This record gives sequence, structure tokens and C-alpha cells, in this order.
Amino acid sequence: MPISREVHLITRPHGMPQASEFEIVETNVPDAADGQVLVQNLYMSVDPAMRPRLTSGQALNEAMMGGALGRVVQSKSPDFAVGDLVNNRLGFREYFVSDAKGLSKLTPAEGLPLTVHMHALGMTGFTAYGGLLFIGAMKEGEQVFVSTAAGAVGSIAAQIAKIRGGYVVGSTGSDDKAAWLRDEIGLDAVINYKTQPIRQALEEATPKGLDVYFENVGGEHLEAALRRMNTLGRIAVCGMISGYNEGQAPVRNLSNIIYSRVMLRGFVGTDFMHLQPDFQRDMAAWLREGKIKYQETVMDGITSAPKALIGLLEGANSGKMLVKLAD
Ligand SMILES: NC(=O)c1ccc[n+]([C@@H]2O[C@H](COP(=O)([O-])OP(=O)(O)OC[C@H]3O[C@@H](n4cnc5c(N)ncnc54)[C@H](OP(=O)(O)O)[C@@H]3O)[C@@H](O)[C@H]2O)c1
Repeated sequence: MPISREVHLITRPHGMPQASEFEIVETNVPDAADGQVLVQNLYMSVDPAMRPRLTSGQALNEAMMGGALGRVVQSKSPDFAVGDLVNNRLGFREYFVSDAKGLSKLTPAEGLPLTVHMHALGMTGFTAYGGLLFIGAMKEGEQVFVSTAAGAVGSIAAQIAKIRGGYVVGSTGSDDKAAWLRDEIGLDAVINYKTQPIRQALEEATPKGLDVYFENVGGEHLEAALRRMNTLGRIAVCGMISGYNEGQAPVRNLSNIIYSRVMLRGFVGTDFMHLQPDFQRDMAAWLREGKIKYQETVMDGITSAPKALIGLLEGANSGKMLVKLAD
């Protein structure tokens, strides 16, 4: 019967979350009973979508929810063996017992690090792939803008757009991230929105306008993109992180979509599950060939999970934010 440490939300944040609003709690986790498995989490994912849930959705004083990759350490289920790797939604804790519903077995891709399944080769990469190619319907050689371009989703969307022959502009919030996008990824133009006014910088960076905007930020970013959209352009709305802490900033030029006949559509990864086989084939090949690069920011241990979530909202991560819970 292992002792597990887990992260509880004890007070709902207003604005940027504070470390004092979380607590690390020890619990005794029972052994697996018939039909159950005991899982030790190895890595947990830290995602912007957790912030809105802290305001509403995440219960107080119980283990928080979130994506994780774990290893089965006891099994009384016919479907799982000790040592199996399992994707689960029970992050923010070291161990858990489960009736195995909601667990999916992971077969690691040969020759690639395990953690790529938590970003480029997992739902993060799939969100970028389907959001750009299916929702955004990006075609060869189009003009593309990706916001939070050095983040987990954005960096993959921007690189797929380059692979597909696009002229690609990315925005990010630091000079280091901007340099990575320019020098390592080879984006055509990069904007540091904290040092350059986004509206003017995007205008200068997009002399041929925009066919696709892969939207991760909202507010001023969306206003700036709406001014640059070409006729029949597409805005694939993946996220709007600028509003997650403070409430959404107004977008004052939405009517631009009318005469340019711009499509603006929100989406989640499950909207295009039929693309999974194509995605797995393409992404695994791109990673092996070095055509897709990625960054990870890995914090160590369950006690660093609140700091990791706050850091993500402050832009402390380059690429995917993960917490390593065990070897
Ligand atoms: N629809 C879906 O199914 C789905 C799935 C996954 C993620 N998403 C969305 O995709 C977006 C990116 O998620 P991710 O997991 O890849 O996270 P991420 O981009 O790796 O990390 C978040 C980044 O957002 C940027 N940021 C934070 N506050 C900002 C602000 N006020 N204005 C502009 N940028 C800000 C920071 O980068 P900078 O340093 O560059 O500012 C930070 O590093 C989020 O909006 C998320 O909600 C949607």
C-alpha cells in the first residue's frame, strides 16, 4: 500500500494563481482489488485549460485532474499487466487505484523518447495537426500566423505549416523563444508581442495578408489577425490564453469576417479523430527525420506541480510543460 502525494486546490484564484492556493496532501492508496490496477504516474502534463477549471469545475480539497502517463505496478485486471504504460486523466498525484476504465495503453514509438507521447506525438501534436490542416484547411504555400508559437501546440502547428510550404509568422513573449523560432525552426517572421505592438508588427510581417490564423491567445492578437485576413481566410480557434486569468479582452473588429468571408471556428482534438492514423504516421516520420523539433520544460517532483502551472501561465515554459513524478 503506497503513500501517494497529491495536489489539492484549497482556494479559488482570482487572476494569476498563487502557490498558497494549493496544498500537497499525503494519502494511503489501497492495493488493487479484483478488476483494478495500481498505477504510478511517471510524468504529468501541465495545460493552460487547467486555469479556467480552477475558477469553476475543479473541486476544492481533492486531488486535481489532469493528463498523465503512468506505469501499472499492480494488476488484478485481465486487460493490463505490470509494467504497462497507461495514459490517464489522473495527474497531480503520484499513485492511484483504478478500475481501469479511462486508461489507455501506450506502446512507445521506437527510437523516440517516451515524453514525445505527452506532446508532439500525443494530443498536443494532434491538436496542432488537425487544427491547422483540417479546421484551418491550410493549403500549400499559404500565409499563416501562429500565436504562442514557441509553446507546446503552437510550435508544432508552426512547423507543420512550414513543412506544408507556408509563409509562417509566429508570436511569442520572450527574445529567447523568438530566437529559437527564427534560428532553429526557421519561421519567416517572429514577433515578440511584449516588446513590439502586435498590431503594427503583424501588419509589417504579413505583406500578403493571412490565409490561416492558428489562434491560441485571443484579445489583441485576434484583433490584429482579423485586420490581416485575406478573403475566405480561416481562423482556427484552439485557445485564448490571454483571457484565462483575468476574463476575456474585448475583440472590437469581429465584423471584419463579413466582407472577407472569413471562417472562425473553435475546435477540440476529438473533432477530427479520423485523422489519427495519418497524424501518427506523419508525426512519427517528421520526428525521426528531424523535420519537427520540440522543446520541453520538465519540473521535478509532485511538489513542483503548482509552480509548473503558475509558470505556464507566466510564460516560463519553452515547449511542453511537464512534471516528472518518477523514473
Ligand atoms: N482546443 C484544444 O483542444 C486545445 C488543446 C490544447 C491546448 N489548447 C490551447 O492552446 C494554447 C496553447 O496551449 P499549450 O498547451 O501549447 O501551452 P503553451 O503554449 O506551451 O504554454 C502557454 C504559453 O502561453 C503564453 N501566454 C501566457 N499568457 C499569455 C498572454 N496573456 N498572452 C499571450 N500569450 C500568453 C506563454 O508563452 P509566451 O512566453 O510566448 O507568451 C506560455 O508559455 C492555449 O490557449 C490552450 O488553451 C487547446
